[in-house]
Parts: sequence; structure tokens; C-alpha cells
Amino acid sequence: MGSLNDPERTRSSDRRSTSWRPVALVLIVLVAWWHISRVYTSPIPERPSLETETPFTWAELTAAPTLEYKPCFNGYQCARLDVPMDYHRADGLGRRVAIAIIRLPAEVPVTDPRYGGAVLINPGGPGGSGVFQALVAGRGLQKIVDAELDPGHSTTETDRYFDIIGFDPRGVNNTTPGFSCFPNTFAQRNWELQAEADGMLGSSRDSLKRNWQRTRALNVGCARSLSTPPEAGAEALGEHMNTPPVARDMLEIVERHAQWRERQGQVEQQRSDQRNGHDPAQSIIQRTRWRRGGGEKLLYWGRSYGTVLGATFASMFPDRISRMVLDGVVNTDKYYLDEGHNAIVDADAIFDQFTLYCDRAGPDKCPLYTPGGRDAIAAAYRRLEAELYNASVAVPASSTRGPEVVTWTDLKIVLRISLYQPMIGFPLLAQLASDLLHRGDGSALADFKHRGRTPTCPTTECLRTGPWSAECQAPEQNELYASSAILCTDAIYMQGRDELSFAKAWAAMKRDSAMLGDYWSSIELGCAGWEVTPRWTLPGPCGGNTSHPLLLVSMRLDPVTPMRSARKMSSNFPGSVVLEQDSEGHTTAAAPSLCTTSFIRHYFQTGELPPPGTTCAGDLEPMLESGHVDTRSPAEKTWDALTEVGLPGRRLPWH
Ligand SMILES: *[C@@H]1O[C@H](CO)[C@@H](O)[C@H](O)[C@H]1NC(C)=O
Ligand SMILES: *[C@@H]1O[C@H](CO)[C@@H](O)[C@H](O)[C@H]1NC(C)=O
Ligand SMILES: *[C@@H]1O[C@H](CO)[C@@H](O)[C@H](O)[C@H]1NC(C)=O
Repeated sequence: MGSLNDPERTRSSDRRSTSWRPVALVLIVLVAWWHISRVYTSPIPERPSLETETPFTWAELTAAPTLEYKPCFNGYQCARLDVPMDYHRADGLGRRVAIAIIRLPAEVPVTDPRYGGAVLINPGGPGGSGVFQALVAGRGLQKIVDAELDPGHSTTETDRYFDIIGFDPRGVNNTTPGFSCFPNTFAQRNWELQAEADGMLGSSRDSLKRNWQRTRALNVGCARSLSTPPEAGAEALGEHMNTPPVARDMLEIVERHAQWRERQGQVEQQRSDQRNGHDPAQSIIQRTRWRRGGGEKLLYWGRSYGTVLGATFASMFPDRISRMVLDGVVNTDKYYLDEGHNAIVDADAIFDQFTLYCDRAGPDKCPLYTPGGRDAIAAAYRRLEAELYNASVAVPASSTRGPEVVTWTDLKIVLRISLYQPMIGFPLLAQLASDLLHRGDGSALADFKHRGRTPTCPTTECLRTGPWSAECQAPEQNELYASSAILCTDAIYMQGRDELSFAKAWAAMKRDSAMLGDYWSSIELGCAGWEVTPRWTLPGPCGGNTSHPLLLVSMRLDPVTPMRSARKMSSNFPGSVVLEQDSEGHTTAAAPSLCTTSFIRHYFQTGELPPPGTTCAGDLEPMLESGHVDTRSPAEKTWDALTEVGLPGRRLPWH
């Protein structure tokens, strides 16, 4: 299993030249069929195996209205922040939410003059766990936003060092209350395996019928339970899980963090006065003071759906922005209001890039290479898709897994991964597609599928307490259902479609992208029958004059957050600047660019934006492994961070 990918442990002198090929598969977790209904999620690596001395559980922390951090995992601090489920409830009663918060402490104490504040992060989804993101990518993100030199070597007083704070949004992972659509994990896993076997939208002539019925079966019951309060007069969780209350939670985190910082400052001032004599200026207290009444501002880096959350925050609290990076920008007019272009308009262009790189790489590096140029490679892939549509491939059992049937749906999942993350996905697609096309061999794909599954049986506790009891729930396996719960209450227009109007929207989606249209429609289908009305919605489109201008970053070609969305959003936020990275993939985590990184760092350090119209090159090209990074420069630290942020994974055993 992969480790937490501590940079100190993984640094090696030769990684710059070789790291990208073997850093193969972090996306194992994405394989289970239901995982394809992740929406706007930046590439998320596999779960880390966390080696802590005393295993930490969130249940041992008491939820409090202030941040009471306790050490957790390795070198992190955790707290559960108590907030109202309904911020508009005036009587002060009602249900509460305990937000799981994890802090990666800054490289300097919060009382140090070089402490720059806490950068909140969100990985996307909706439904992604910010706690998980902080655990696997927090150190890498911190290296990017921090000053280039370590605090010990830093010579300028203006260098800044930041905390990274991840949190689980409402209904997600460690934040409570959680919810489940299933009485226990066994029922959940059965359902998911059946859904996988049924096949994705587009996988057969009757795929719409099958998926429609399946989705309704899941959603009608789950939505009903989420919109039913546990008792009369109480709030229903499902009505308070959409994005605006989460943005309000972020403001609460900002305030409570400032309050916590002030307390640290008071303690440190006392200590310092005792040690060095009374400081008449009380400078530590001064600089750590909680600026009540609106003086505290947000620092934020959101990817993918995280840009929806960021833009929502910026619309609701425009005077509370200190720094905001939106990375892989979603067009919120489309997301919330169904206005504008489809998300996937650039997806097929990324497939075209695949054929370009494959053609350039040649048969040694691209197993799907076909003489005759790019068109021949594209045709080879399409032929495989068509063949699999008609006939799945049988794969006998091996010593490590049972028999499998490899299907069209499986191939489309690999295709999707490759469009999201070309750096690791293109070689994977080329290998798996070539195995099938040239040798009729689906064993590597079967292994890949198999690795994405986790066995789940009810625990002994669950068997004792019975279905639907807390012991039978596994909030960490709830991501996909949390995703629907958030998406379908943000995008209410997706709830009410009937089968016919859905079929029309699906056809239009496929016209926009032959490669990703089925997948993206299956996400929208995921809201059929999800009838829940949110209590707090935005009054209009996202936008506003923010107290500090936003930095928007997108790839030239992104499969689900196209460049034109970034430009649209920039017009909604006066003063913001779009930085374009000339790479393919979803969010800057998909391909390293020291240039992009240096602009993001500069923005966090000084607040300055890149000049409008700036384009950054990517540093590596998929399937061609040589990077052009000067390994002697201080950029080395950033490079290490990049390889972690994007791809903190393990090797694929079969590479
Ligand atoms: C798939 O089946 C259809 C209908 O039987 C046939 O027309 C088509 O040629 C087949 N495609 C492939 C690639 O075998
Ligand atoms: C939920 O958080 C835990 C840490 O408490 C992490 O290990 C786990 O991977 C997270 N689950 C998901 C689905 O992100
Ligand atoms: C921003 O401020 C300008 C000037 O006051 C105003 O014209 C514009 O409508 C504002 N834009 C938004 C999105 O609020």
C-alpha cells in the first residue's frame, strides 16, 4: 500500500527523470462502477495507509463551537466544529452539525510574524473529503503556497508560511450527522456490484431503461429519508446539504480559526514577557488579534467542484476574500441554473491529443500505436469500443481474483480516467486497449477492476445492533451518495426530468462529446427521483466585487471544466484573472507546471495576480517521459510537491 507520501521519505535523486512513468495508478479507487458518478472531482489518489501510533478516531473528539485541536494522524491536528444545521433558525434550537476539520500546521508558529494564515482547501466532488485531501496532498499544497525557502533559511521578512485546513462538508465522511441509503454496507456493496454489471448509460440498447429504474429505486427512498426530519420541528439533513450552507460553514471556520489564533497569541505573549521582559507594544497579541466584525478573511484553494464552493462563498461574502484560487473552474451558471455550454465540450479534443501523443511516442511507448497516423489510432480505439459493445470479453480466474467479464463500461471508465488525468491515464488506456484489441486479453483490465473493490461485510457490532443502526453505517463509503445529495439540491433542475426529456438531453450531450457524453449524462441521471428542496439557495448567479481579486486557473483542454467556463466566471468576478496552463487534464493536479505553481505561490505570498492573458507551459507530456526541469534550482522543492499533489500514488504492479 502507498504511504502518506511524506516528501522526506520519497525524495530520490533520480525522480525528476523517471517519476512520471512509474507513478502509475493512483486512481484505483475510482474503478468501482458507482465511482463513475463522481462529478467534478479533481484527481484523487488512493487512500493512504495511515500509520499512527495510537489509532485516531473522530468520535473521541467532542464537538465544540470553538476550535479545540487535538493531535491526529501524523503531525496533523483535528477538531470538530459545532454549527447549526440551519443558520436561519432564530430560536437557537434545532439540530447541529459537527464539521470534521484537519489542520496541517504551518512551518512557523501562528505567533511568528511570517505566519500567513490558514488556507482552506476543497478537492471537488461534490462529496469529496477535504480531510482526505489534506492527508494525502496537504503537504504538497503547503509547499506550493509557502515561500520557496524553508523558514530556517528564509532571509526576507515578507516570506509567508501557511496552515492548510481541510474539512469534510455536510453529509460527507467524518462530518456528522452522516446518512446512508442502505441498511448496512453489505446491502450497499450488493447494490453497487449489480449496478456495475448492469452497465453504464449507453452500454446497451436498453441501458436507459435499466439505469432509469435503478436510479429511481435508489433515489426515491434515499431522498425521502433525507428530507424527513427525525422528529417534528427538527431539520432534515437533506435540505441543508447544498453548497450555500457549506460556504457559510467556511466563514465560521475562518472566524473560529481567528479566535483560536488569538488565544495562542495571548499565551505566547505571556511566555515571551516572562522570558524577555514586558513588551509594552504587546506585539504578539497585536498581530494575532481576532479582527472581529468582518476583519477576518478567507484564503482558499478549491479544485473542480471546489470552485463552485469558492465562487458561492465569494458571492455570499464578497468582502471576506483575502486569496481565492479556483482551479479547474466550473461555470456556476451552468451548474446552478442550467445556463450556458455543456461541461464536456472539450473532452473529445483531449482524446485527439491522446492520438497525437501516441503517434509521437511510437509502438515502444504506446502499445495502441497503429501505423497510419492519428486517425488510425483513433479508429483502432473506436473499433475496440464497438466490439466490446457487442461482446464482452471473458477473463478466467487467476490466483488473486475471481473470474471477470470485461465490458464496454469498463473500457469507458478507463477512457474517462485517461481524459481526466492523461499523464497516468494515457499509458494505461494504451496498454489496456491494446491488450484487448490485439490479443483479446482482458486480464489486466480485470485486475484493475478487482483492485477497485473493497470487501465489505457487516461488522459483528452491526449484526448485533441490526440494520440501520449507527454501527452498520460506513460514512467513509458514502461519497457517491453524498455527491448526489449535494448536486441534486444545488441543481434543482436535474430533479424533475422525465425519461423522455432526459433522453433528449442525453442525445445533446453525446453530440458535444462522443467520448464523455454517456458518462456525464449518467451523472445528471443520478438526480432522477431525488426530490429534496433546499432551504437556503443563492438569489442569483454567482459573481461580485470581491475584497481581493480571484485567481482562476484552468487547463487549455479540460474534460469537464473547459477553459471557456473560466473565462465566463472571470467576467462574473471583476478584477479576477484567468491563468491558462497549456496542458490537458482536469485541474492543475493533472499535469505539473512549475510556471503555474510559481504564479499560485506568488499570489498567496503577495496577493499579486499574473498579467491577464498569461499562459504557462506544462513541464511534461504524457507518454513522453522526459521533463525539462532544472534540478539544481530551488524549484526542486516545488517539483517534489507537484509530484505529490498530482500523483501521490503507488506503482501499478503490472507496469
Ligand atoms: C455489432 O453488432 C451489430 C448488429 O449485430 C453489427 O451490425 C455490427 O457490425 C457489430 N459491430 C462489431 C464491431 O462487431
Ligand atoms: C475519510 O477520512 C478518513 C480520515 O479520517 C480517511 O482515511 C478516509 O480515506 C476518508 N474517506 C474518503 C472516502 O475520503
Ligand atoms: C462591481 O462594481 C461595479 C462598480 O461599482 C458595478 O458596476 C458592478 O455591477 C459590480 N459587479 C458585480 C458583479 O457586482
